[in-house]
Amino acid sequence: MTASRAPALPPALAALPPLLGGEVHNSAAASRGTLASALDRLAALGGDAAFVPLYWELLEPEEGAFDFASADTALDLCRERGLRFVPLWFGAFKNAISCYAPAWVKTGGGRFPRARDRGGRALWTLSCFEAATRESDARAFAAVMAHLRGRPGAAGAIPFVQVENEVGILGTPRDFSPAAEAAFRGDVPPGLLRALEEADDGFAEPLRPLRGAGGWEAVFGEDAAEVFMAWHIARYVDAVAAAGRAAWDLPMGVNAWLDRGPGYQAGDYPSGGPTARMLPVWRAAAPRIDFVAPDIYDPDFRGYCAAYTRLGNPLLIPESRADAGAGARALYALGRHEALGFAPFGVEDLPADAPLGAVYRLLRPMGARLAAARGAGRLAGFLQQADEETWDAELDGWRLRARTRGPTGETAVPGAALVLAEGDDTFTAVGQRIVFTFERTGGPGATAGLLWLDEGRFEDGAWRAARRLNGDETAHGTGALFGDTVTAVRFRLHAY
Ligand code: DGJ
Repeated sequence: MTASRAPALPPALAALPPLLGGEVHNSAAASRGTLASALDRLAALGGDAAFVPLYWELLEPEEGAFDFASADTALDLCRERGLRFVPLWFGAFKNAISCYAPAWVKTGGGRFPRARDRGGRALWTLSCFEAATRESDARAFAAVMAHLRGRPGAAGAIPFVQVENEVGILGTPRDFSPAAEAAFRGDVPPGLLRALEEADDGFAEPLRPLRGAGGWEAVFGEDAAEVFMAWHIARYVDAVAAAGRAAWDLPMGVNAWLDRGPGYQAGDYPSGGPTARMLPVWRAAAPRIDFVAPDIYDPDFRGYCAAYTRLGNPLLIPESRADAGAGARALYALGRHEALGFAPFGVEDLPADAPLGAVYRLLRPMGARLAAARGAGRLAGFLQQADEETWDAELDGWRLRARTRGPTGETAVPGAALVLAEGDDTFTAVGQRIVFTFERTGGPGATAGLLWLDEGRFEDGAWRAARRLNGDETAHGTGALFGDTVTAVRFRLHAY
């Protein structure tokens, strides 16, 4: 309860080749045909991991009577296409409301009370303070986890599970239902205060208690409502995750609806959800959650990635816009932050020739190499967010100087690259619309350039060069130049 840092990455996750994923539309998994065609598109894009919802309302249409058909279909369709399956548990919380709760819960009245706003108005969201709601949600989640565990092939196919979806409460800073009011009158748990002390990591907007003990308002002032909700929703999610893990102990994470920057209050975005600022609260309250994953639709992709690698949180991007820039963002997340995976939302909307497909097809045979490079300082990633940008990255005794090749228009793909240092002054890079030049680190004077550079791809674990590039195509041996389409190159540097 007091650990503020992320628990060590479970070995199963650390060794996992990054997921080249896609999340299907919310209702896709309610029909075999719709899901099959969505997964076909993901497979055609070269993806290898499908993020697919499991709906509480379909799995437990009558209390205690389970129908696992939709879960079986999702697993079978993923396996038939060689896709890993990331189940998304759409339980009591989906986008901060409770639309996926079964009808018997929605109409359960006093047994499953709704959260209330300051004026006492009942909301579309169930209250997380009600034990009956938590227990029913957890029982259903555990039932589907136990069922999947027993299915042939499930063990290798399911790398981890997302518990609930974008939790929190909207339209009010906190729940004012009678049970929430009683909890709000209590003191802040000392374990939370200890965790926040340990979690002061230089974050731009730290969560600093005003006092070392006492009630929520006394300790957190204007942040009280959001911290209170974060603590209690995270405790709720932790209980659901605990039940699921008792049935099948897979790694588990949550996804986050982001806060909205200056000028917005908790409740304009889901209050109590795992925003970057609430990360230490979530860490302390939900030890069964291995990672908190941001859904990044915001143009500041780099900024939100950085915010979600605080406190040792491993990065996963379960949702991002399915557009022409998705491939660029995948390169950045996997290269710069060694992300566990990347998945645009509504992946079936992407045309089969989207740049994401070229990225996935080039990265997929590199999966084991990318996993082996995790934590070794051998990866770099670049992503253009403004018309002209330059970046430096140091890898393996070399400084890579990157610059953009042109403005990012509305439809133009941004400049981006992933670079992997392979040793022996040799690098593999996958990129688009970016230029690299090189310097030796640690000693002035030497001039650096390419010894050679080949365009090609990995196949069956081995690099296959398609053609040697030189002359105009490498600025006469001085740079790696990526054009408008995604390509992979391998090069060796030297200095004289
Ligand atoms: C974020 C949610 O997590 C998804 O399930 C979906 O509703 C998207 N928003 C829609 O843009």
